[in-house]
Amino acid sequence: MIRASCQAPANGSGVRATPLLGQPIGRPGRLFRKAPSGPLFPRGVRGEPSAAAMDPGEGAQAGVVNFGAGPAKLPRAVLLEAQKELVDYKGLGISVLALVQFSSLCIKIPDNYKVIFLQGGGSGQFSGIPLNLIGLKEARCADYVVTGAWSAKAAKEAEKYAKVNLVHPKLSSYTKIPDPSTWNLNPDASYVYYCANETVHGVEFDFVPDVGNALLVCDMSSNFLSRPVDVTKFGVIFAGAQKNAGCAGVTVVIVREDLIGFALKECPIVLDYKVQVENSSLYNTPPCFSIYIMGLVLEWIKNNGGTAAMDKLSQKKSQMIYDIIDRSNEFYVCPVERKNRSRMNVPFRIGSIKGDEALEKKFLDKAVENNMISLKGHRSVGGIRASLYNAVTVEDVEKLASFMKSFMETYRS
Ligand SMILES: Cc1ncc(COP(=O)(O)O)c(C=O)c1O
Repeated sequence: MIRASCQAPANGSGVRATPLLGQPIGRPGRLFRKAPSGPLFPRGVRGEPSAAAMDPGEGAQAGVVNFGAGPAKLPRAVLLEAQKELVDYKGLGISVLALVQFSSLCIKIPDNYKVIFLQGGGSGQFSGIPLNLIGLKEARCADYVVTGAWSAKAAKEAEKYAKVNLVHPKLSSYTKIPDPSTWNLNPDASYVYYCANETVHGVEFDFVPDVGNALLVCDMSSNFLSRPVDVTKFGVIFAGAQKNAGCAGVTVVIVREDLIGFALKECPIVLDYKVQVENSSLYNTPPCFSIYIMGLVLEWIKNNGGTAAMDKLSQKKSQMIYDIIDRSNEFYVCPVERKNRSRMNVPFRIGSIKGDEALEKKFLDKAVENNMISLKGHRSVGGIRASLYNAVTVEDVEKLASFMKSFMETYRS
């Protein structure tokens, strides 16, 4: 059993960067333990696809499963490789901390798109998007689809630089996606912005909205690489790495070439797409380690069937949890409309739609006793949230599912 106390950080991403475990993770004397000998990637990140590669992941040795919303669980094979190469990259005698090697993404990038790797997180792009794109049209107006906390934050930030048009009336609760046929798009808008997966509220688009000839911009931070994506439908896609694509510190921006070069003069130079494209993301010192980890994760995804395989797995994993919720006779309640439920972040209340807080606390405590951590819902929503990113295995989810069943049997009144 471990003791853990995980709280949401100020940025609302779900858990503290360091879970406050009862015992320090790296006890003195163990920090310098010799790395395990033998192949650290037995058919894992750098080998053939295999079941072994879908390994238990971070925390596995202690039997701990991390269901945190981000920074999220990483595949164990990735962590072991990073442990080795931190000191000696591929036998070259240099540390990964002293080199930058960009990897190609596991998705098809058309020739007329550029990929850049930036700092500043997903939130940096809340400013970066309007600063780079609002000048595309004279009206300096942008359409925002606000379906949860993250798109709301993006819209608020954009107001500093743009006239923001909310395409549908403000939602009283973030539990659904208003039908796109009802959206009120402004033909003078420079772009239409939406968030593909609302991490806090568990609302996910399972379609790319049809906005006609308008320029579509998407925050894919929390479902990037969990399903194939047709890049040609977008002007810009961005994603912070710390959910499915690696660790915090690097944000991928995929931008169509003809949109580059319109940044406002106030745009900080490190956020200027033109400058970063021209300098191959090396205008300023890049976050080497985060880029390196992303490279390993990309390799791991590729060796495990790519985004098509991740898609099937996330369908299966999320269905396991939603099935229990739906068959629980409202012991567990997910507030999100079925067709808009997220496969990445499954929020639910216990006892009733409003949640029985005492029961939810018991659930979280018992989960920790059973080595499942970071299941607490975001503080603005409450309840429980299970994040089922790529590195969370089917076995991890089976463990959670069986715990949910037995908890229900014990505590259903
Ligand atoms: C969907 C989404 N967008 C943006 C962000 C903000 O990312 P960052 O914390 O890297 O600024 C998050 C963080 O969790 C997120 O989930």
